Amino acid sequence: MSKSYDVIVIGSGIAGLSFALKVAEAGKRVAIITKKNSAESNTNYAQGGIAAVTSQTDDVEMHVADTLDAGDGLCDEAAVREILNDGAASIEELAYRGVAFTQLKDGSVSLGKEGGHSKRRILHVKDVTGKAIEEALLHGIATSDAIDTYEHHFAVELITAAKRGLDGADRVLGLYALDTNTGNVETFQSDVVLLATGGIGQVYQYTTNPFIATGDGIAMAYRAGVEVRNMEFIQFHPTAFYSRDSDRFLISEAVRGEGGILRNLAGEAFMERYDSRKDLAPRDIVARAIDSEMKQSGARHVWLDTRHIPVKKLHDHFPNIYDYCMQQGIALEKDMIPVVPAAHYLCGGVKTNLSGETSLPGLYACGEVACTGLHGANRLASNSLLEAVVMANRGASAVMDYMNRSDVHCVKLPEWVDGDVQDSDERVVLLHNWDEVKRTMWDYVGIVRTTKRLERARTRIQNLDREITDYYWNFKVDESLLELRNMILVAALVVDCALQRKESRGLQYTLDYPDKLDMLVDSKVRI
Ligand code: FAD
Ligand code: SIN
Repeated sequence: MSKSYDVIVIGSGIAGLSFALKVAEAGKRVAIITKKNSAESNTNYAQGGIAAVTSQTDDVEMHVADTLDAGDGLCDEAAVREILNDGAASIEELAYRGVAFTQLKDGSVSLGKEGGHSKRRILHVKDVTGKAIEEALLHGIATSDAIDTYEHHFAVELITAAKRGLDGADRVLGLYALDTNTGNVETFQSDVVLLATGGIGQVYQYTTNPFIATGDGIAMAYRAGVEVRNMEFIQFHPTAFYSRDSDRFLISEAVRGEGGILRNLAGEAFMERYDSRKDLAPRDIVARAIDSEMKQSGARHVWLDTRHIPVKKLHDHFPNIYDYCMQQGIALEKDMIPVVPAAHYLCGGVKTNLSGETSLPGLYACGEVACTGLHGANRLASNSLLEAVVMANRGASAVMDYMNRSDVHCVKLPEWVDGDVQDSDERVVLLHNWDEVKRTMWDYVGIVRTTKRLERARTRIQNLDREITDYYWNFKVDESLLELRNMILVAALVVDCALQRKESRGLQYTLDYPDKLDMLVDSKVRI
């Protein structure tokens, strides 16, 4: 029996939860489908904070200028201005929902600084901003009668009119989701589906992202024929804690905002050789500088030096980072932190307008899965939490209008059919392919690219794609098979877009085309 809702939200990070609360408050029945526990999301790990103009000495036009500068010519200026203009109101709304932003002794809000910002404008809850936002929003969800949350439900595939072979214009009709506790695939029916599935960091061997970030939303949208763009712009955060295993705990850029200095293994503060803004240059510049220092010296990491910062300040602002480093044997007041870049954020994604609408009627997207034009070729630090909440609010308003249209009506949907498939007895293949896609992306589609490396990656990913497609049709689906299938597709889209861009701009840096082209173009994945 299929389940039917006014609106279905896939994902329970800041984007999905903010959107769900808004549409529920407008009287709609909402289902949230999320593949793990509700709190498990990139949002939950966000540290530095949320950028918005809230101080008298700041100005939205300055925030706009910083965002455009970081985006390296590829931002949609109208989108930048509209989204950033909504910033202060979105902060007020988060505060209303219970997010207690850190305050100074005089009661004013504490504003942090990060790379590329000309002003202090990052609101934060110490260094656990995302956790505080997630908790506040989940509290709102728990107290709403209009929202049902389906945890441990993995959205597998969108159901569309075209896939059902229905006449007339294409639109979304619902989706299939795997209950990972029972192994059953359930049918959810709705005229409105929001993709809020977050990013793709897990496609890389080293990432700051948690395990949920496997690009499922982008893969589902692509398979439904929805427009996806700018996938080559993968942001590598300059400073993840270096360890010998593949864990990459983030050391917030806000640490550099409070005076942290990057040094190479010879102890030199090398950033002044790369950019006049030194350690607070935009992320693409800092990550490339670190990469270059490591390549020149053969070092496995560089250092982040906080020894000159008063220990009380470190404790007060960064308790989580301080504790993590201490567990690793690093005391910030006397030891330097070993740091390396790691895959962090996807600037491209499912193309939307400023109402969150995708190219498929009824399908909306917001948060990291979406590409609104705000980030261009490189995201300005702490603009993503802001974009997610602003776009969730805008999307929620647009959905109301869509649902009032007379041509939108429910369609009965068929149940999922497993066919003649069996449980796999070769799970080792999945594990092997999982490692291979991550390693391939790290080795050949990283901070510095070449056409040859990208082509090598394309060939390997094509092989993996053939294997996983065979596997998908012959064995019973489970979460790791579905995630791997999505990761392989998303990896192929990144490589495809990177090969299309014959220039170096923002996060795409290729030795074969070191200059920027005069023409500004978005890369589009071929459907
Ligand atoms: P997420 O918060 O990632 O939520 C995605 C949700 O979708 C999850 O609930 C997930 O389980 C669910 N999901 C995914 N696939 C499926 C599926 N197939 N079926 C069902 N559910 C699914 N940005 C800032 O602006 N400021 C910061 O300080 C900051 N710090 C960061 C620190 C870290 C360590 C990381 C990793 C990111 C940071 N970012 C920061 C980026 C920011 O956190 C994310 O871009 C933002 O939280 C994304 O929110 P979202 O709601 O789009 O997605
Ligand atoms: C950080 O705290 O450095 C992460 C900020 C971001 O990704 O915007």
